[in-house]
Amino acid sequence: MVNLLRKQMFSISIGLYCSAIILLKICICSQFSMPSSDQFNKDPGAFPVATNGEPFPWHELRLPKMVIPLHYDLLVHPNLTSLDFVASEMIEVLVRDATEFIILHSKDLEIMNAILHSEEDLRYRKPGKKLNVLSYPAYQQIALLVPEKLMADLRYHVAIDFQAKLADNFEGFYKSTYRTLGGETRTVAVTDFEPTDARMAFPCFDEPSFKANFSIKIRRESGHIALSNMPKVKTIELEGGLLEDHFETTVKMSTYLVAYIVCDFKFVSGTTSSGIKVSIYASPDKWSQTHYALEASLKLLDFYENYFDINYPLPKLDLVAIPDFESGAMENWGLITYRETSLLFDPKTSSTSDKLWVTRVIAHELAHQWFGNLVTMEWWNDIWLNEGFATYMELISVNATYPELQFDDYFLNVCFEVITRDSLNSSHPISNQAETPTQIREMFDKVSYNKGACILNMLKDFLNGEKFQKGIIHYLKKFSYRNAKNDDLWSSLSNGCLEGDFTSGGFCYSDSKTTSNTLTFPGENVEVKEMMTTWTLQKGIPLVVVSQEGRSLRLRQERFLSGVFKEDPGWRALQERYLWHIPLTYSTSSSNAVHRHILKSKTDTLDLPEKTSWVKFNVDSNGYYIVHYEGHGWDQLITQLNQNHTVFRPKDRIGLIHDAFQLVSARRLTLDKALDLTHYLQHETSVLVLLKGLEYLESFYYMMERRNISDVTKNLKHYLLRYFKPVIDTQSWSDEGSIWDRMLRSALLKLTCHLNHAPCIQKATEFFSQWTESSGKLNLPTDVLKIVYSVGAQTTAGWNYLLEQYELSMSGAEKNKILYALSTSKHQEKLMKLIELGMEGKVIKTQDLAALLHAIARNPQGQQLAWNFVRENWTHLLKKFDLDSFAMRIIISGTTSHFSSKDELQEVKLFFESLKAQGSHLDIFQIVLETITKNIKWMEKNLPTLRTWLQVKI
Ligand code: BES
Ligand code: ZN
Repeated sequence: MVNLLRKQMFSISIGLYCSAIILLKICICSQFSMPSSDQFNKDPGAFPVATNGEPFPWHELRLPKMVIPLHYDLLVHPNLTSLDFVASEMIEVLVRDATEFIILHSKDLEIMNAILHSEEDLRYRKPGKKLNVLSYPAYQQIALLVPEKLMADLRYHVAIDFQAKLADNFEGFYKSTYRTLGGETRTVAVTDFEPTDARMAFPCFDEPSFKANFSIKIRRESGHIALSNMPKVKTIELEGGLLEDHFETTVKMSTYLVAYIVCDFKFVSGTTSSGIKVSIYASPDKWSQTHYALEASLKLLDFYENYFDINYPLPKLDLVAIPDFESGAMENWGLITYRETSLLFDPKTSSTSDKLWVTRVIAHELAHQWFGNLVTMEWWNDIWLNEGFATYMELISVNATYPELQFDDYFLNVCFEVITRDSLNSSHPISNQAETPTQIREMFDKVSYNKGACILNMLKDFLNGEKFQKGIIHYLKKFSYRNAKNDDLWSSLSNGCLEGDFTSGGFCYSDSKTTSNTLTFPGENVEVKEMMTTWTLQKGIPLVVVSQEGRSLRLRQERFLSGVFKEDPGWRALQERYLWHIPLTYSTSSSNAVHRHILKSKTDTLDLPEKTSWVKFNVDSNGYYIVHYEGHGWDQLITQLNQNHTVFRPKDRIGLIHDAFQLVSARRLTLDKALDLTHYLQHETSVLVLLKGLEYLESFYYMMERRNISDVTKNLKHYLLRYFKPVIDTQSWSDEGSIWDRMLRSALLKLTCHLNHAPCIQKATEFFSQWTESSGKLNLPTDVLKIVYSVGAQTTAGWNYLLEQYELSMSGAEKNKILYALSTSKHQEKLMKLIELGMEGKVIKTQDLAALLHAIARNPQGQQLAWNFVRENWTHLLKKFDLDSFAMRIIISGTTSHFSSKDELQEVKLFFESLKAQGSHLDIFQIVLETITKNIKWMEKNLPTLRTWLQVKI
């Protein structure tokens, strides 16, 4: 026991030591290497060289804190014909330490003029002093050199005139175009800044902790409207007929949340119970698809105001569907921008899964209005505080506002998705160092989003819902209009007392609505921080190994690795220094109550009150860990599933299936055992559990099909069709039923038609002919649309017809389905044509190119084509997307990470090496290489087992 305790303390101190190193590094940078203006004067040679050859007075990526912005007055005039913009700004700054220069961010802007005004200059209308502007593009910075030292504690005003082209990609202030029903192409101008692109639209202190107020003015022509974060206060008519809209000054906020749009969109609007005006904007012909978003955003905004006990602080909220958008959506304060398919819902062509997606994205971006906008992470290393929370709030808010969507049961997939990533050695801690714009962008990944959300869900389960809610209210109230770090969150969640609460006898009493009947002891949860840092500062996911000996349960924790096995020489080294505080939950065959135990050491023992035939850990799969049952543990669970699966709750059954197949990848469980576990699914009544089982079997089918392993492909097809026959036969081709009945229908029929099952093909063909005969006017059931189109796309006439309809369709949801269908063609020349259209960017927009290449790579007949195309056209692709963009990451991983042979691995390795030799490096390279290696090992071990297992079953 003493030994155990020491081991545990040792590991904790290592954990703290690591975080201390990270902190120390930041301290060193900011305290000791920050050159003062005096240092610069003494040794200008030690500094970088500006574009004009003069020494640049700053050599850090992070801005100095000597000067901080208070207020920006920004005037922007975009010209939608010449596709450029001219602008001017006046930044009010506070000088904290006397200095001879001001460092700002600026990227690809032409600065025409910069003038410094003291408060006195402004008061007496004196002309101000011209500033010398130096530029250091490597760090996207400019330096404004002042003729006389700026004095500490004084305010100054910096006026800058600048101009640039509207960007051609999706960054900064960019142009987007759309086609009207009448065939006319129209242009709009829109911003997208997060994380580091505000500097492409106006010179600014572009770091999240430099919060300031913004007063924005936009010039436009009379046929357009202008939108920004705040409501418009007035419009002034200028000479020549131009109009200038003035917007109210914003609350204090970070630069990455500033937004403005000039467009000719139409809107629908409504008012929340607290009087906020919510409007949904879209291009005029898509107006009819905006209504669901309005209903959802009104409900969700009401919900959040209640849940957070903080009113939405702006008078209005606009949600805008942008025709060209790189990611899914962006939470600009008061002016949220969306890809059209993330906001618009077309009752005729949007399926039930489209509805779930739109609801989730709205819920996510609205959550950011508090998590992210009101309280912002101090630096991008903690982006999970924004994204993990917003992802987690999707669960809380959608459950409450749309219970019929049963998002609660689906949320497990959010965790399963990231476990695949987090069980590779190349994963990273949730809170990770990030300095350069590329490193910052790379932080927007599954680890920050999904793992962040999953550990919050685990914590909520540990604390209970009320305490959790109270903690986050505390956090949001305490840090409103400010920035926060991980530790601030843990302190808020540990502290039961809110500022308004009163304390007596060591307890705090609250009359707030969330804690009406609860007493909490301050400091009761000191372990929250200790526990949570083991999840945020360490990468990876733990494996809890359970073995039962009589009434005793022996527990052991390890780091779970899916492609490195215990017998590998490197395994031990990869385990060292990993230790989590795991809030375990379990139930047993004799007690289905939820039992709890925190596993803080490597090994531990639990004594049960009586002998039980089985124990199931991780109740409702709320914990972020995988469980392995040694000895007869799995056999006992399988026996129970076969006898009566309903003794386990549906989420527990899903968890068992998930963990079993994960353990196969880690070679802890044989594939036949995991497959045997799925055998009871014939009697499964929960759609979500059935879908999980189907997903694994389906993925094996696709794996075999890609590698053209014909005997196993054939047997697996027979097995699937026979095994799922009763449920396939009961599917109707309609939109009837609950959401999950509809989801199951889509998934099952998609697989069945893919397997070329005659009745499925026949029904889909029939529907397709009716649809073409009606000239695309017939409304088909939305949940089977994609299947009908995919079957239709297999003939040349059908494929050509679909492409024509693609061009004409006004529904993004329909276009996605058609594009997917087109990408399933077996003809190389058709697939190539799609890629050409995507590269051209007219019929198929550049924003859809990454998803298209991914879809083609999933098609066995397209995988080589897509991969060759990416390799051969790398420089062309780089002209469209930045190397570190979302799109590039999808293109790279989407066209490679399914490979499962040594030759393919070699090809990918060579390609990545050639890129590295040219100076391109991304984390995704390592992720892909590890994934392919894992696939190869999976095949080596499991292909023979799968073959034999099928021979017995068929
Ligand atoms: N803040 C992000 C947008 C973003 C993504 C900015 C990547 C910079 C880099 C936004 O809130 C977001 O998370 N969007 C998601 C959609 C969401 C529902 C998961 C996206 O764009 O994929
Ligand atoms: Zn987000």
